[in-house]
Amino acid sequence: MQRVVIVMPAWNEGESIAKMVDVLFNNEFPKIDAEMHLLIVDNHSQDGMTETVTKLTQKYKNLKIIQQENKGLGWAYVTGMEYAMKNLKADAILEMDADFQHPPRFVKPMVDAYLSGAEYVIGSRYVKGGSIPGQWELLRKAVSYFGNLFIRVVLLKPWIHDLTTGFRLAKVKGVLDKIDLRNLMELNRFAYKVDLLYQCMKFSKKTVEVPLQFEPRKTDRSKFNPKEMISTFKVAIILGIKDKIKFIKFAIVGGTGFIVNFIALRLFRNLGLTETLSWAFSTELAIVNNYIFNNIWTFKDQEIKGLKQTLVKFFQFNLTSAGALLIQSIAGPIGVRLVGVQYDALVLAFIVLFLVLPYNFTMYNLVIWRKKK
Ligand code: GDD
Ligand code: MN
Repeated sequence: MQRVVIVMPAWNEGESIAKMVDVLFNNEFPKIDAEMHLLIVDNHSQDGMTETVTKLTQKYKNLKIIQQENKGLGWAYVTGMEYAMKNLKADAILEMDADFQHPPRFVKPMVDAYLSGAEYVIGSRYVKGGSIPGQWELLRKAVSYFGNLFIRVVLLKPWIHDLTTGFRLAKVKGVLDKIDLRNLMELNRFAYKVDLLYQCMKFSKKTVEVPLQFEPRKTDRSKFNPKEMISTFKVAIILGIKDKIKFIKFAIVGGTGFIVNFIALRLFRNLGLTETLSWAFSTELAIVNNYIFNNIWTFKDQEIKGLKQTLVKFFQFNLTSAGALLIQSIAGPIGVRLVGVQYDALVLAFIVLFLVLPYNFTMYNLVIWRKKK
């Protein structure tokens, strides 16, 4: 049977914690087809919560309370997740709030999604069947929705609707155990959540969204504020750029290749070479340029060294370039026939952007500068 651990940060939730524990163990866990555990991560609460939970651990053997090491919500999760993986041997971990904003009835559908093969399950407020509290004022609703939209665009994940939710389940093997939890960004803030989500999505082979009806907090003392929001956007922007750096370098090298091609063409012409030879030599020069700079800059972690390797790879690189030529000579005439010859510049731009660049980038990554296992 799969072992699922709910990691639940709780800080001065003495008022509601006993009810949360009882509802989970008595009403929800028995309905779920997995071995369920609840791990509460406390931050030295002052309101008696620690004692309440400690007493309940005698009643429920799958209940455990630990204290976090460093300050901040992110650290509560890191502490809890490490404990769940090492000490409880969790197969999957569910992040959940203690204040009933994540209603316990949504635990089962999350675990069910995991049991049917999902490696990362997002409790989503912005899919059909999910919701945010109706009584939230318009501004708060707008901030939540548009903040999410912004992050969806920046992270290039428009198909995921809720990237800031706090209700998520991740498989341990292959997903959570691949992530360097202690080095996530902004662990002392809520913003770490976006980084954690981004890393989980990178490793998860199947990510699904399950509806969540986010309830209002009974006594609203949410710690979420503009400072948290800004740091959340910051994390999203940094992540958005970080993974694209290779592509940006590749595009810059492509640009220098274009310039080399252009200048060399005129040079060879002026030297008196025939038109055909001028084109051929200048194109080959651009290919050499692109090979060298991609090798020492864009793909320097996989840099090709040694004479034999260089010759083999450079030959492959030329074949790849010939492939691009082929794509252009097939797609070009088709495009022109479709939209008319007066739009040939547009056709060229379209072909380069959507066919040649992705083709080259893929070939470079998968063939020429393939990562060694
Ligand atoms: N141990 C510990 N340490 N627990 C904490 C800490 C901390 O520093 N800060 C908050 N908690 C606990 C709270 O007791 C609660 O159970 C849970 O973490 C969430 O805290 P809230 O203060 O209730 O957060 P929120 O409701 O404003 O924020 C929710 O929405 C955000 C945005 O959608 C949460 O679900 C966030 O995770 C989510 O990012
Ligand atoms: Mn809350």
